[in-house]
Amino acid sequence: MTGAADLVILANRLPVDQVQTSTGEIGWRRSPGGLVSALDPVMRTHDGAWIGWPGVADNGTPLAPFVEDGLTLVPVGLSEQEVEEFYEGFCNATLWPLYHDVVAPPEFHREWWDSYRQVNRRFAERAAEIAAPGATVWVHDYQLQLVPQMLRELRPDVAIGFFLHIPFPPQELFSQLPWRRELLEGLLGADLVGFQRAGAAANFVRMVKSLVGLRTHRTLVQTDDGRFVRAAAFPISIDVQHFETLAGSDSVVQRAAQIRQALGNPERILLGIDRLDYTKGIHPRLRAYAELVAEGHFRIGESIFVQVATPSRERVQQYQVLRDRVDQLVGRVNGDLGVIGRPAISYLHASFPQHEMAALYRAADIMVVTPFRDGMNLVAKEYVACRLEGDGALVLSEFAGAADEFKQAWLVNPYDINGMKATILEAAGADEKERSRRMRALRRTLRDNDVSQWASTFLGALAETRDA
Ligand code: F6P
Repeated sequence: MTGAADLVILANRLPVDQVQTSTGEIGWRRSPGGLVSALDPVMRTHDGAWIGWPGVADNGTPLAPFVEDGLTLVPVGLSEQEVEEFYEGFCNATLWPLYHDVVAPPEFHREWWDSYRQVNRRFAERAAEIAAPGATVWVHDYQLQLVPQMLRELRPDVAIGFFLHIPFPPQELFSQLPWRRELLEGLLGADLVGFQRAGAAANFVRMVKSLVGLRTHRTLVQTDDGRFVRAAAFPISIDVQHFETLAGSDSVVQRAAQIRQALGNPERILLGIDRLDYTKGIHPRLRAYAELVAEGHFRIGESIFVQVATPSRERVQQYQVLRDRVDQLVGRVNGDLGVIGRPAISYLHASFPQHEMAALYRAADIMVVTPFRDGMNLVAKEYVACRLEGDGALVLSEFAGAADEFKQAWLVNPYDINGMKATILEAAGADEKERSRRMRALRRTLRDNDVSQWASTFLGALAETRDA
């Protein structure tokens, strides 16, 4: 069976989540995370279809394809049990911690694996139905690593690309996975497998050789059926122009001024914006800041740390543990160090539209991004895009993919609290000339690789691999 879509994107989530409006009807709200922000503009320039989960368990009647805000969306339903076993289980309590340096212990359960296979098959079947003859199918992220092989069996005529948005671990960690070989074979169904960093692509090729026993040469793998699969790095980016326009708009400029005023017009605003995830290093970052305040380097009223933590994966235990730890830390720091009307940390457990995020980026003097491990971190890129005047400072973890490109950020090791404190102080104390030298260099780097370039480089490489 074939369909009519020349470009099909598959991601675990649709770009919008299903919500119930106050009148009980179905409504749609933008879904969280960097993947959606990156792919949304790509879809708008290529006339394709996006297959994904609408973010709520299915009541047994999967929704029909629909058009929302100009995008053709094809929902894939998950039952309540699949949400538990596939999404919360295998994706976010097995693969997520395993692929992020085991910063939390991954759990391995056979029923979760069965559910992962079953849901991947459903996505592959949906793509097989809607892809036109010879179409390009682009599969995204760790939730769908078996789709390339499953789809190839159903539709050998289509070009299949896969892009992993998160890190890909070294063999020492990946080998823990009982289904390591099956996952590698799943990915090998693609013509091109893309990663954020060159080291991740090298990990993949090395493991294909040692765990699957295939012949490899540099970035190429030769499969048993005589195909060549290429693995390479394609560092993802953002729609730079879109963020620049947003940040320059009157309403964002005004909102940024309002935010500064609401915070008491402090001399210095530090900002963190993350999904509330244990990989993001929120806890050590806030500890570092609190110690700087307690030691008198920053004074309440003159400085404030604004931390936005977007609710995420709230039923997964490790996320609940993290939320409690952060709540407790913020409560203690503000209780110990704050004064009436002036907390040390202004903590918001909420998700904001892009307009508000752009205003926060504009308002912040120092952006602090300190993940223990992160595929790329698009928040760092969004901050740089919004600093239209070339000022502001970015403190960035060396373990974020963005650190490969953003050499002029103030780089930190999030495991080293004293090191982080010293670097935050250095960024805060740097003169205007130094800040502007660094920020202008970051902005030049960002402009050289925006998201449309990322997508066209990937899709160009996919076409070449396929034709070779
Ligand atoms: O980029 C990593 C990622 O897991 C995306 O695949 C995902 O859409 C986003 O973060 C948000 O996570 P979730 O879909 O689990 O809310």
